[in-house]
Amino acid sequence: MDRSQAEKKIKELSVEIEKHNHNYYVNDAPTISDFEFDKLLEELIALEKQFPEFLSSTSPSQRVGGAITKTFKTVKHNYPMLSLSNSYSTEDLIDFDRKVQEGLGLQQNDLFASSTVKYVCELKFDGLSIGLNYVNGELTQAITRGDGVQGDDVTTNAKTIRSIPLKLKGNYPSSFEIRGEIFLPRHVFDQINKEREEIGEPPLANPRNAASGTMKMQDSAVVAGRKLDCFVYYMLGEEVPFKSHFENLNAAKSWGFKTSEHSKLLDNINEVLEYIEYWDKERFKLPFDIDGIVIKVNDYKQQLQLGFTAKSPRWAIAYKFKAEQVSTELLDITYQVGRTGAITPVANLKPVALGGTMVKRASLHNADIIEKLDVRIGDFVFVEKGGEIIPKIIGVDLTKRKPNTEPTKYITHCPECETLLRRDEDEANHFCPNDMGCPPQVKGRMEHFVSRKAMNIDSLGGETIGQLYDAGLVKNIADLYDLKKEQLLPLERMAEKSANNLIEGLEASKNVPFERVLYAIGIRHVGETTAKKIAKKVKSLDVLIGLTKEQLLETDEVGGVIAESISDFFANEQNKTIISRLKNAGLKFELSEEQQQAGSDKLNGLTFVISGVFNKHSRDQLKEMIEFNGGKNSGSISGKTSFLLAGDNMGPEKLKKAEKLGVKIISEDDFEAMLAK
Ligand code: IVH
Repeated sequence: MDRSQAEKKIKELSVEIEKHNHNYYVNDAPTISDFEFDKLLEELIALEKQFPEFLSSTSPSQRVGGAITKTFKTVKHNYPMLSLSNSYSTEDLIDFDRKVQEGLGLQQNDLFASSTVKYVCELKFDGLSIGLNYVNGELTQAITRGDGVQGDDVTTNAKTIRSIPLKLKGNYPSSFEIRGEIFLPRHVFDQINKEREEIGEPPLANPRNAASGTMKMQDSAVVAGRKLDCFVYYMLGEEVPFKSHFENLNAAKSWGFKTSEHSKLLDNINEVLEYIEYWDKERFKLPFDIDGIVIKVNDYKQQLQLGFTAKSPRWAIAYKFKAEQVSTELLDITYQVGRTGAITPVANLKPVALGGTMVKRASLHNADIIEKLDVRIGDFVFVEKGGEIIPKIIGVDLTKRKPNTEPTKYITHCPECETLLRRDEDEANHFCPNDMGCPPQVKGRMEHFVSRKAMNIDSLGGETIGQLYDAGLVKNIADLYDLKKEQLLPLERMAEKSANNLIEGLEASKNVPFERVLYAIGIRHVGETTAKKIAKKVKSLDVLIGLTKEQLLETDEVGGVIAESISDFFANEQNKTIISRLKNAGLKFELSEEQQQAGSDKLNGLTFVISGVFNKHSRDQLKEMIEFNGGKNSGSISGKTSFLLAGDNMGPEKLKKAEKLGVKIISEDDFEAMLAK
């Protein structure tokens, strides 16, 4: 393909891919399969690699992430990012309406009259606010709220959010800002917490914290994997097309933004109250969290007339839902032991309806909270469902306390294995130190070991692990590789075929690459990404075991907590035995030869141009080798080119240019020698 064909194809693919992104993430109506989509994207990425001069900053390939933001630049907002004043009751809202009418010099109408002030009611999305700047239809900058005057430039991360258009369609102003809310859908949040639990990280408190934490991550590839979403709700600029908020929201939708279908233009405050009443009940059915309703005067002339206070507009107000609270009887307190041994006290309640579900259990967090609240079995307790997913106990109804109740005595021994519990300084939770013998800890570790992103042994699920453990066949992850088919057959629901599958699954797992084995062995705080980075750096487990804490800290992503955790893990005798048994079983404890050769920083700071046909490697392989070793590929020769890697039949133009600019010309053999050094 020549340059002009490539340029055309890149443009066509970009438009097509963005159309599919929009169908999927904005319209919720995909028209092609994920597989077909991935193919298109791969094609685009390959072409852009080959012809980097045509890679645009708004290409859909930017959504995959990969660029790292070391520090987020602080930038000033073009318009200050104000907040809204809050209201909590019908009275507050009627008062707001009265002030609006007065401010506009209108006679206050009775509640049901069609007044001349129209309100737009919107959901108040619970995430982090973002200002998106567009120039000539292209996303140029995404800024977080910060202190309202200046915020962080998070453009690279924002580009990974597929519902944020990178290029607009239709008749948009040449320059404007649109504000919106970035949030995590609840099912994604649940998934993240499941994964955190698997690696022994404490769960994130709520989707809002998770979303803002994600936007501050340095590695945009991780952000891309988090599936954030974004609704827009406020347009700013000199040339916004319409004179009212609602019309501009609709215009934004037509340019490709995601606006909420639940925003409504309403005639009077009574309709606003009805809207609020409806969503107070229905909000739990939404796939994302909202914490209230936003009410805005629709007409811009009226907005202007009402103006702003120092902190917020007088033409808008937020109505905050009350966190729903109920009172019910505390029947019992039980204690759960997690995969990492952390103990969580759980309140077992007389079932009660709350936030759209029946609640039977609530978290009591830890010993301090039980003591502070003085919760006792038999008490009537207040239960609340706020932003958090698990309801919590927020207090005791002392007026209903029965005589002769006893203060709760926190357990001293593990409810599963009776080991004396420990509580470290600065830690809120007690934990069971018997990590090698406490059943939920052992089973949990095995479940993590076989999970999809670890050893991916899908013929071995949580239930079978439970059976194997209870039958005394496995006590740790190394025992799995000693299992024989004959031992499996007597187990309940274990037919010949499942037994074969299980053994085959274990066998196949011996080919799982080192970085996933490192993740699978379950070192606390070592998640998937950390394991990958460490594996790339150390290349083998033996090297990792030999590293000091200081040396570990030199790896990206390894902070003090992780370094500590790694050294504790390998200092433990039982872990040492398990690792050596896994090694004997044939698991991969070093990078493959291919991976080893690939990864280095030998070519750091060097830019290569590849031209011609080669004998030993394909051009793509050579490009990969360059990148894996820290170098950069470029499609055209310039003053910045370090080497021209020349094969047979190289174009004479390139050669001439290289010679003119004094760029060194090397052969495939020279290149190999460079890497072998
Ligand atoms: S309008 C000047 N609309 O709520 C008006 N805000 O304090 C600017 N929020 O930080 C805000 N949903 O991040 C508006 N539909 C919505 C919203 C919304 C959520 C957030 C926003 C802001 C806070 C209000």
